[in-house]
Amino acid sequence: MVGPAALAETDPMPTPPPMKTIESNVADEAARAAGDVLKRFYRDGVSMRNKDVANLVSDADVEAERVVVATIRGHFPGHEVLGEEGHAGDTSAEHLWVVDPLDGTANFAHQIPVFAVSIAYYRSGVPECGVIFNPITDEWFTAIRGQGAFQGTRPARVSGRARLDEVVVGFGLPYDRGALMEATLAATAEFVRRETHGVRRMGSAALDLCMVGLGRFGVYFEYLLSPWDFAAGRLFVEEAGGRVTDCRGGAPPLARTGILASNGLLHEAALKILRAHDPGEIV
Ligand code: IPD
Ligand code: CA
Ligand code: CA
Repeated sequence: MVGPAALAETDPMPTPPPMKTIESNVADEAARAAGDVLKRFYRDGVSMRNKDVANLVSDADVEAERVVVATIRGHFPGHEVLGEEGHAGDTSAEHLWVVDPLDGTANFAHQIPVFAVSIAYYRSGVPECGVIFNPITDEWFTAIRGQGAFQGTRPARVSGRARLDEVVVGFGLPYDRGALMEATLAATAEFVRRETHGVRRMGSAALDLCMVGLGRFGVYFEYLLSPWDFAAGRLFVEEAGGRVTDCRGGAPPLARTGILASNGLLHEAALKILRAHDPGEIV
C-alpha cells in the first residue's frame, strides 16, 4: 500500500522529546524571537520586490542578532556571545554562545525560504547544545550533548550508506571568486564524477549540516566557514552519529576553518578528494 496510511503504519513509535537543558530552552526562546524578526523582514522583502534588498537584509540580521543577544543576556548576563553581526565574544570564555542570526543571507534576499537562525552554547570550549530554526518552514533542529539530535521531537540519524555513489553530497561556495572558489568547484566536480546521486548547494551551512545529521546528505563540505556557520550544526551531526573535521581531517577549531561533515563511513573517501584540491594557505 502506498500513501499516508501506509506511511503511518511503518512510522516508528513517537519518541519523547529531548530532555531540555536550561541553555537549550534559552536557545529556543532566542531563536523564536529572531525568527519572528526574520519573518517580518522577509514579508517586507516580498512587498519591496527587490528594491534596496541589501539594506533590508543587513537590517534583518542586525535586528535578529540584537534580539538573540538580549534574550541570552536576560538569562545569563555574564555569558560571552560570539555573533556574526558585531559580537566579538571571547572564545576561551567558560560560557560562550555562538550565533548566526541569519544563515542563508542570499536565499533570504531572493525570497528562497532556505535560511535559519543558528545558536550554539559552548561550555569551556565544548559544544553543549545547538539550535537551528527555519522560521518559514517552522523546522527546529536541536542537538544536546549526550542526548542526541532531533528534528522537532524526532531523533535524527546519519545515513548508513558506505559508498559515494549511494549518496547526495552538499557543498558551500565562498563569496570569494578566486582560488577558494576554484578549489571548491574542482572538488565538487570530483564528487560528480564519482557518480554520487548529485551535489547540492543549498545556501545555508547550518541547514546543510542538518541535512547530514538527517541522513539526507552523506557528505557536506566547505573549504572556509566562520564559527557561527557551523557551531550548532557540528553538534547536530555528531549527536546524529556522524563525524565532523576540518577539510584536512583535523579537529575543527572554533575559528575560521574548512568543514567536512559526513556519516563517518564516507569520511576518508571525502577527505581524499578534499586534500587533492586543498586551496592551501587560504584555509
Ligand atoms: C553563508 C552560508 C552559505 C555558505 C557561506 C556562509 P551567511 O552564511 O552559510 O551557505 O556557503 O560560506 O558565509 O552569509 O548566509 O550567514
Ligand atoms: Ca552564516
Ligand atoms: Ca549570517
